[in-house]
Amino acid sequence: MREIKITETVLRDAQQSLIATRMPRSDFEDILETMDKAGYYSLECWGGATFDSCLRYLSEDPWERLRFIRSKVKNTKLQMLLRGQNLLGYHHYSDETVRAFVRKSVENGIDIIRIFDALNDYTNIKTAVDECIKAGGHAQGTICYTTSPVHTLEKMAELAKELEDMGCHSICLKDMAGIMTPQIAFDLITAVKKVVNIPVVLHTHATTGMSQMTYLKAVEAGVDVIDCAISSMSGGTSQPATESTVFALKEMGYEIGVDTKLLKVINDHFKPVQKKFLENGLLNPTVLGTSVDGLHYQVPGGMLSNLIAQLTAQNAMDKFEECLIETPKVRADLGYPPLVTPMSQMVGVQAVQNVLLGRYKNIGKEVKAYCRGEYGKAPGEISEELMELALKGEPRIQGRYAETLTNEMTDAEKELEQIADGRYATTVENVLSYTLFPQIAKKFFEDQEEKRINKISFNYTIRKVD
Ligand code: CO
Repeated sequence: MREIKITETVLRDAQQSLIATRMPRSDFEDILETMDKAGYYSLECWGGATFDSCLRYLSEDPWERLRFIRSKVKNTKLQMLLRGQNLLGYHHYSDETVRAFVRKSVENGIDIIRIFDALNDYTNIKTAVDECIKAGGHAQGTICYTTSPVHTLEKMAELAKELEDMGCHSICLKDMAGIMTPQIAFDLITAVKKVVNIPVVLHTHATTGMSQMTYLKAVEAGVDVIDCAISSMSGGTSQPATESTVFALKEMGYEIGVDTKLLKVINDHFKPVQKKFLENGLLNPTVLGTSVDGLHYQVPGGMLSNLIAQLTAQNAMDKFEECLIETPKVRADLGYPPLVTPMSQMVGVQAVQNVLLGRYKNIGKEVKAYCRGEYGKAPGEISEELMELALKGEPRIQGRYAETLTNEMTDAEKELEQIADGRYATTVENVLSYTLFPQIAKKFFEDQEEKRINKISFNYTIRKVD
């Protein structure tokens, strides 16, 4: 029977969705060699929020983390998630910066780059795709899945064809909200498979409780790869469990190249990790359950938790329901963007403001930038009324916004050299970290330097006592 490949997400999406990307290297370093032998198609381990979180919370150099994973995972493909022209940040960067980042990602150990644009505007991924191919990487083009009057099956198939024509090696259908139903999965994979010859990957989340049914129908329709998470870090807002998915598919006669005995070893490793995060409160048991809100409101799990956090901070949790109802309205006004970073944050924040302050009484600067065209082309039409309120007669950008940007790395390098003042290296990797997250990267470099100095003086003290 046909082979179904498995991408394991525990090191990226699973921990991003369950524990806000707070898994330090020490939680997985001892299991990497076993994971390498398990027979996964790929390990998703970098990109998305991991880069930001390493610098901001974990005090880890994201590049070093990647090189370390690569040193232990010699055979299995390493995969990352990249937000197209946004890289791993929240706004567009120049083509030069995008090329440098993609090249360095491959050089430091990434094999597969899953590249998406929140609006499925592929002028925003073509530079990253092109550079990935040139650097010898596997470019996985992405269709962000969402439902709306403008996201028809025909439109999705058209997008798939566009990705294949662009030179992508595979296509990922990305259901970040876990709202793809089994029947839609079947119809969608069938429609996409009809028009392209490259492998098709399905990515979903267990949030609404349909994920394994959805995968099964996708498999029946001919999907090549599915994303799963090892069971102790699976379910809820994460991916469905690797073990049970593999078990069911194997029984049905599909060929799955993973070693189930090693899956148990891997899960035994992550069980205490899950326990630790449950105990320290970073893993909230409610995200492990099933929430069907997404089916009604089409709101991804991550957005729900952001919404709760925002309203709690404003002491306005009584407006929760109202905000949930406002969210799809804001999305419609913006021309139905898929709710994925950074659109999910933009729509969420605007919906809360609309409820708390009155509709579009205060328009966020990101929404204004979106209306100006700084994020690319909206899938549908932006409401005329909102356009007028946001732009106040200002003209919209013509063509690709990235082309109006100058190489951010030139200034970043100069700034970083001044800050470092010869104390630490300003490698291209460090310059890229600084370009993407100036304040956070600066603090990280300074903290690392302080640690280094403290270590030296600490050793000196010990020697003196001796
Ligand atoms: Co995801």
